[in-house]
Amino acid sequence: MRLDVVILAAGKGTRMNSNLPKVMHALAGKPMIEHVVDCASSLGTEHIHLVVGHGADLIKTHFIGDDSAAGYTSHEGIKGGDLNFVIQEEQLGTGHAVKQAIPSIPARSVEDRVLVLYGDVPLVSKDSLQELIEASAMSPLGVFTLFTQNPEGLGRIVRDESHQLKAIVEERDATEEQKSINEVNSGILVASAIELKDWLSRLSNDNAQGEYYLTDVVAMAVADGHLVESMTTGDEYEVQGVNDKLQLCMLERHFQMIQAQALLATGVTVMDPTRVDIRGDISYGRDLTIDVNVVIEGQVKFGNNVSIGANCIVKDATLGDDVTLLPGTIIDGAVIGNAASIGPYARLRPGTVLADSVKIGNFVETKKTVMGKGSKANHLAYVGDAVIGAGVNIGAGTIFCNYDGVNKHTTTVGDDVFIGSNSVLVAPVELETGVFVAAGSVVNLPVPSENLAVGRAKQRNIPGWKRPIKK
Ligand code: UD1
Ligand code: CA
Repeated sequence: MRLDVVILAAGKGTRMNSNLPKVMHALAGKPMIEHVVDCASSLGTEHIHLVVGHGADLIKTHFIGDDSAAGYTSHEGIKGGDLNFVIQEEQLGTGHAVKQAIPSIPARSVEDRVLVLYGDVPLVSKDSLQELIEASAMSPLGVFTLFTQNPEGLGRIVRDESHQLKAIVEERDATEEQKSINEVNSGILVASAIELKDWLSRLSNDNAQGEYYLTDVVAMAVADGHLVESMTTGDEYEVQGVNDKLQLCMLERHFQMIQAQALLATGVTVMDPTRVDIRGDISYGRDLTIDVNVVIEGQVKFGNNVSIGANCIVKDATLGDDVTLLPGTIIDGAVIGNAASIGPYARLRPGTVLADSVKIGNFVETKKTVMGKGSKANHLAYVGDAVIGAGVNIGAGTIFCNYDGVNKHTTTVGDDVFIGSNSVLVAPVELETGVFVAAGSVVNLPVPSENLAVGRAKQRNIPGWKRPIKK
């Protein structure tokens, strides 16, 4: 059996009131369409067709290449080259959309199947899709339906006296009686490739919206004498389509709650599951504690016994055991060793690599900096482009002056160096082991091992100095 997956994503998403194509709006930090593509590829097929129209270039770029404009890093799982992009120039309906992908789908054997997913139904699960595929293995068509108290706007599932599926009727074409049906079409279906090809070639747009409805294939299958299978869920979130920002927000909150519950279930202390957002993948050891208003993004790894204070953002980072992040700390692209303490109000930027027992205190910013074991920058410092040894003390107000206006340069600091407060280290410069820098120094010459560097104007005192008097 060959499985082709067609993902519909050509619509504009007018009700999003946004310049971004609807399916590119993020849920848990990644575009909705990417959730759907990931789910499709988790089924083990390489035949994924994306029907795109509005914002086609942006969607393509997201999967294939650099996409800084949209604020997302490009998709890493399935390679863009493995996706087949099919352009639907005019959005003439869901049936018309699927039809655009048909030339890319071989229909050789009765075993060849086509699964249709929607780019704006991001939370559909692999398990349900597999169940749908299995449930309809013996039928040329299977549809995924939902029982809901709020069927408004959705296609109604019409069944006969023996409960067999007869048709799907769109709300705008439905009779009052049909409108009261609360089994609705999720939009997701699986069909035999051979039959689908035939049905789609016979679709008409003779309906209230003047569109080629994919849903009409149900009545066609029935007319051809087939039994149409169905699979049902009561989980509205799983098949909830996103049409506007409110629906997107509700799915986001649901998804985040599920993630927080999964954390709690595996032993993480989450102070408030409604106030932690995970936008990416995290792994963790035992006894992770997450205080309120924490955002975790990208790929993040926590060791054992890590504590994250309130209002922290942790992105693309690896933290060892016994690390404490104090409130208000921002970590981005850093590697942090065991027993480190970071914050409050610290900012670690990409390329920061901290050894065990490092201490970074309030209002300290680090960037592209390696710090050895036990080194400290406790208050108010900028530490950029530096290689720092072990046991170093960086005083309050120290600036690693790494930029000459054109190029960045490196500062090298040996073990056990003490840098007095309010010093400026003008890179490129090296301070060898055991150096002591007097407070308030500007250091722009190399300092040999064990030397005291004093780089400040000598103090002079003027005795008998009279303060000015107001005239
Ligand atoms: C569709 C179903 C309806 C179902 C509902 C579930 C049809 C005719 N109706 O209605 O039974 O209850 O979904 O959410 O299928 N798209 C294209 N090209 C087009 C038209 C649509 O790619 O020409 C894409 C859209 O971008 C979207 C998806 O298909 O991702 C669904 O289209 P939409 O117009 O939202 O369908 P509904 O009217 O909601
Ligand atoms: Ca819709």
